[in-house]
Amino acid sequence: MPSMSQQMDSRMLRDAFGAFPTGVVAVAAQVDGRLVGLAASSFTSVSLEPPLVSFSVAKGSTTWPELRRAEHLGVTVLAEDHGALCRQLAGPAQERFTGVAFEITDSGAVMLTEGIAQYDCTVREELEAGDHVIVLLKLHAVVVHSRGQPLIFHRSEFGRLA
Ligand SMILES: Cc1cc2nc3c(=O)[nH]c(=O)nc-3n(C[C@H](O)[C@H](O)[C@H](O)COP(=O)(O)O)c2cc1C
Repeated sequence: MPSMSQQMDSRMLRDAFGAFPTGVVAVAAQVDGRLVGLAASSFTSVSLEPPLVSFSVAKGSTTWPELRRAEHLGVTVLAEDHGALCRQLAGPAQERFTGVAFEITDSGAVMLTEGIAQYDCTVREELEAGDHVIVLLKLHAVVVHSRGQPLIFHRSEFGRLA
């Protein structure tokens, strides 16, 4: 076991954090008539009563200052064949929704049609946490599809459940 007081550079931390497998969500909304969103692997459930979920966004994100202005945010759990879509949602902002099937709620939340679950959320709190902001989201509605398996993100690669 290496010393627990070792110096940790960002490469080492990325590798260490990447050992923990996660799913990936698309966080998206329509803001001023434009589609805004990003892919996030930091999503997690937080509370049942009240229903809360969270994700962390980099402080340097140029998308979050736009997205946080939306009345409601859509969170879509990506499906196992969504590796390329995930990269697209993390790529150039103006191309993130090109060719992507989505639905927009009356309050502006954008849900990807092909996802395996969709959550309609509002921002409840933002907590500064180092170089990220932890965004606590209140859940207003959920749709869970019985079809499909989730996309898995592990050690910087996409995988699927066996
Ligand atoms: C698999 C994957 C997971 C990601 N997870 C996060 C995340 O949890 N938080 C985050 O801020 N960015 C995450 N990103 C990066 C964003 O999707 C996006 O690339 C970034 O926000 C782009 O910068 P912008 O906010 O300036 O548009 C992830 C990217 C990928 C490919």
